[in-house]
Order: sequence, then C-alpha cells, then structure tokens
Amino acid sequence: MSEIERNLELAVRLAREAGALQRSRWGTALTIGTKSAAVDLVTEVDRACEELVVAALERERPDDAILGEEGGVRGRAGGAWRWVVDPLDGTTNFAHGYPCFCVSIAAERDGEAVVGAVYNPILDELYHATLGGGAFLDGAPIQTSRETELSRALLATGFAYDRRASPRDNLAELASFLERARAVRRDGSAALDLCSVACGRFDGYWEFKLSAWDVAAGGLIVVEAGGRISDRAGGPAPPSGREMVASNGRIHEAMLEALAASGRDSASGVAR
Ligand code: IPD
Ligand code: CA
Ligand code: CA
Repeated sequence: MSEIERNLELAVRLAREAGALQRSRWGTALTIGTKSAAVDLVTEVDRACEELVVAALERERPDDAILGEEGGVRGRAGGAWRWVVDPLDGTTNFAHGYPCFCVSIAAERDGEAVVGAVYNPILDELYHATLGGGAFLDGAPIQTSRETELSRALLATGFAYDRRASPRDNLAELASFLERARAVRRDGSAALDLCSVACGRFDGYWEFKLSAWDVAAGGLIVVEAGGRISDRAGGPAPPSGREMVASNGRIHEAMLEALAASGRDSASGVAR
C-alpha cells in the first residue's frame, strides 16, 4: 500500500469516527459559544471532533504538520505532509439541528492536496479523492454535472461571518447569479457544497473569505470529479480559501462573467 493510500485510509477512518460523534450529539443540548463574530458559532462538539482527529494524527503520523480550525497549527513542521482539518463544517446548521454538516480532512504533500475525505454523518455519505485517482461517493466514482447553460444551473453559495462589518458581503454577486442561474442555495457547509458540485447535485458554487480547512478536501474532490476550481478571475483557486469558484467546468466561464458583471453592476448601482 502506498503512503497516499495509507493516508486516505486514515483520513476516511477519522472522518467516520468524528462523524459518528456528531451524529450522537446532533439534536442534544449543546454549549454554544462564539468566535470572530456573534454569528460565528462553536460548540463542544467542534472541539471534541478536532481533538479526536488531531490526537489520532499525532499518534499515527508523528512527523506530519496539522492545521485544524479550532486548535490552529499542531504536529511537527518541516516535513512533506500536512493535514488540514475542519472538524465540523456547518456549525450553525449543527447548532440549530439542521441536518447539513460534515467532517472535512485533507492531506497535503509538499503543499499540494493529494488526499481528501468529507463525511456527512446524517446521510451517511463519504466522499473521497486522491490526486490523479478520481473522486468517489461511498466507493462509487462520481462526476460533475453535464449542464452547459448557466440559465439552467443550480448553484450554491455562502456568506462570510464578517458580513455585517464588511462591504464585501457577496450580495452583489448573489444578485447577479439570481438574474442568470435557475436557482441559488445557501446550504451552510462549504465542504458539502463542493462535494455536491463534485457529484452533480449542484452545477456550481462560489464563496469568498473561506479558510483552508473549508476547501482543502472539497476542492480536490471537485477537480478529481472532472470539475474546475478557480479564483473569481479564473486563476488558480488560492489554497487559503480566500476565493472559491467551483463548477462542472462547462459553466465556469459564464460564472466568472457573472461575477465580473456583479462588480460592474454594483459600481453603477444596478445590483443593489
Ligand atoms: C462555515 C461553513 C459555511 C460557510 C462559512 C464557513 P464552519 O464553516 O462552511 O457554509 O459559508 O464561510 O466558515 O464555521 O461551519 O466550519
Ligand atoms: Ca468550515
Ligand atoms: Ca468548522
């Protein structure tokens, strides 16, 4: 078994274990705190899932670096491998009992995502991909949709936690897509949004001001499913998650044009 295969197996196992913890606590009384803003929630389950994943990684991959949303940088720096962990993506949904959240675990080698695993514990759906190895849902190969027209596309997006404080609130972009696409959803889990693009449930997705842990696994899964990810100008998608445009590839240029138009519209006061 190659190191990539071993790391995939580990990522899948830990995603399932943390997901089982989420499932067992879903709908129970939670202690809910806030982080960067009043709308940026954290629960004890976010922290417990991160501890579960990080403790196992430290035990089984002692030479690797780890970046987790709740605990920051851990593990050992300087090696080839880094794990990027969102222990619970969709915390607001989880806290409200809305069944749309997941565990997202990626492994990067020399700065490039080579393993991705995303587990939805409510639907019991496991997405995984390896670089060059394709993307899978519950072990079956998945592909992005075949839709070629933005006007028939189902899209998803999200809004950053600083939306009340920042003028870059994604509302002009939303207005532009509402004009051009069939419909736009806000499901509340960036990693699942990306996986939904990968398996063709969504034709495209865009969001800004995400973090590395939101996009590391899902971005790889989209690309391995035959889709495209980029920044809003069509350049490489930044691993930081600062800008993410994901699609089946076929509607990507139309999505970039809609984003460019949103800037023109909002500058001229058309969109808002
Ligand atoms: C959030 C979700 C949400 C997205 C936010 C993310 P969290 O992650 O992915 O869909 O719109 O920008 O921060 O806080 O639930 O892990
Ligand atoms: Ca997240
Ligand atoms: Ca999270």
